Amino acid sequence: GIDLGKLLAKTDLVTLDPGFVNTASCSSAICYIDGDQGILRYRGYPIEQLAEHSTFLEVSYLLIYGELPTRTELEEFTHKISRHTLLHEDLKRFFDGFPRDAHPMPVLSSAVSALSTFYQDSLKPFDSNHVEISTIRLLAKLPTIAAYAYKKSVGQPFLYPDNSLGLVENFLRMTFGFPAETYELDPALVKALDLLFILHADHEQNCSTSTVRLVGSSEANLFASISAGINALFGPLHGGANSAVLEMLEGIRNSGGDVERFVAKVKNKEDGVKLMGFGHRVYKNYDPRAAIIKRTADDILGKLGGDDSLLDIAKQLEEHALSDDYFIERKLYPNVDFYTGLIYRAMGFPTKFFTVLFALGRLPGWIAHWREMMNDPATKIGRPRQVYTGHTVRDYKSLSER
Ligand code: ACO
Repeated sequence: GIDLGKLLAKTDLVTLDPGFVNTASCSSAICYIDGDQGILRYRGYPIEQLAEHSTFLEVSYLLIYGELPTRTELEEFTHKISRHTLLHEDLKRFFDGFPRDAHPMPVLSSAVSALSTFYQDSLKPFDSNHVEISTIRLLAKLPTIAAYAYKKSVGQPFLYPDNSLGLVENFLRMTFGFPAETYELDPALVKALDLLFILHADHEQNCSTSTVRLVGSSEANLFASISAGINALFGPLHGGANSAVLEMLEGIRNSGGDVERFVAKVKNKEDGVKLMGFGHRVYKNYDPRAAIIKRTADDILGKLGGDDSLLDIAKQLEEHALSDDYFIERKLYPNVDFYTGLIYRAMGFPTKFFTVLFALGRLPGWIAHWREMMNDPATKIGRPRQVYTGHTVRDYKSLSER
């Protein structure tokens, strides 16, 4: 082959592809998606098998290091993470400065960005020992940061991590434990959250992962790059969709539960209303993650005591949409976020917090991509071209002439 990038670089030609609909920005061996077939694999392993048999930490290891860990490797990895869950006491004080009703996503990205100031060894992005310790710190500390963002919002004291617990258990205890001693971990909740984290763990060059890679391509360190990824995830067209779905369902219920009327509004594009949790840039058949979540939603909501009226509205919406030409023609199917909000709500998380849960799940994918990029000799700083549409040259006019 011909290297199209190099060929184009030698000419004045540029490709214009808004939203990178058809432009690959890199080669990657981490995640495979076939949008027409509804296939998702991490490092070659089908998402369905990982969802059934694996755990979030094992999947994190797989994404970051490329292979499923042996028993010893997994034990070491788990042990290392559990030893880094504490936040520096000075970093904890950051939370005092945020308003109590702050959205937790900017709190999360600010705290992650601040990790660079506490761990200045991270500023050497090519030193493998430093990359390794930054990786462990991020995996260990993000759940603590997220739990403290929650604690701050409800005005409860922060709990120190209990490192005898697993990552998900520890996160739930630090979030909901009040007082900590009385908090009883519900195995169904732990399993469900672990599963949701697995399903969110990677999705190749989505907006936030591409952001992590683009920022990292300037040789910015892991914390700076992941902080940028968190901000990209915040948007309602990306990770923010899980909150938006729940707000949409509540809106429909509160205005009388007329699903048909809402679907008509979406089809007429009234006020730019979209069916949140539907559609995907890559999946044009179905989102395999949504299929897994849908299968488990009833089960989990049954166990956790979710709000049936909202689940009913969600199911009606899906039914209407899947038999409607507007959605069929545009190949719009439920995506991963359509049912997750209902589950998070049943778990006790406030709506604003849902996107934080997405970030916790996506973290190993972001790390894996950053590391893959830094180790790839073909990596160049990301610097897209543009097609200029402004004025041609014109002469400056003084203020009095304008
Ligand atoms: N509801 C109604 N119409 C939609 C929806 C939707 N959810 N999604 C796309 N469409 C329509 C568009 O209006 C457009 O119609 P047109 O041809 O008449 O103009 C057509 O379908 C194609 O849509 P695009 O916007 O071109 O698709 P794109 O690939 O750019 O967008 C996206 C994908 C952003 C996911 C979009 O489907 C969307 O906004 N969905 C709702 C938000 C959402 O759920 N996001 C989560 C994505 S998954 C994730 O991040 C985990």
